[in-house]
Amino acid sequence: MKFFIDTANLDQIREAQELGVLDGVTTNPSLMAKEGITGRNNILKHYVDICNIVDGDVSAEVIATDLKGMIKEGEELADLHEQIVVKIPMIRDGVKALKYFSDKGIRTNCTLVFSPGQALLAAKAGANYVSPFIGRLDDISTDGLSLIAEIRLIYDNYQIETQILAASIRHTMHIVECAKLGSDVMTGPLSSIEGLLKHPLTDIGLAKFLADYKKGN
Ligand code: E4P
Repeated sequence: MKFFIDTANLDQIREAQELGVLDGVTTNPSLMAKEGITGRNNILKHYVDICNIVDGDVSAEVIATDLKGMIKEGEELADLHEQIVVKIPMIRDGVKALKYFSDKGIRTNCTLVFSPGQALLAAKAGANYVSPFIGRLDDISTDGLSLIAEIRLIYDNYQIETQILAASIRHTMHIVECAKLGSDVMTGPLSSIEGLLKHPLTDIGLAKFLADYKKGN
């Protein structure tokens, strides 16, 4: 499973990259705003800065919600850097935009996916990634992980190559469960990735090894 970090914070992206396990980055307009990145030029520059830190794919989201606007913005984003993947919302014109970009060889990530039907439609339109938001489903008392399992089943039934990018990951166990369900990619905050490191028995075991070593040296 590929690991993406879900942030526009350059320090956190660098930290994940230095850990050596980072395969890409996802951003969205809220994450950009959280970092205080505003204005079209600053936003575009920020995407390039992110691409220069990581080796893998960087999802950059369009703001337009009409086909013409999404095409204009998406082409501008794709021209920025070869690592950019254009993020398109799961709306009617978004589906048309996915097909347009797919035909042009521009890679896409269909975002705001909350049902297996939406994931099937995104794949039919040629999306490279589909982003089911599992945390937001959990937030409304719906099992987000079940959605990953349903999409996996559908995609496997037809050997669909669209990658399932489990999004809205909130904690470490979401990552583990997504891996068990066969998600191709997960995107989460740095804390969720770092949580994979931790086990009290590792700390206790290491302390004992070091103490025993000291006794003999
Ligand atoms: C996905 O690409 C989104 O940026 C993200 O995962 C949304 O997560 P949230 O529900 O924690 O905002």
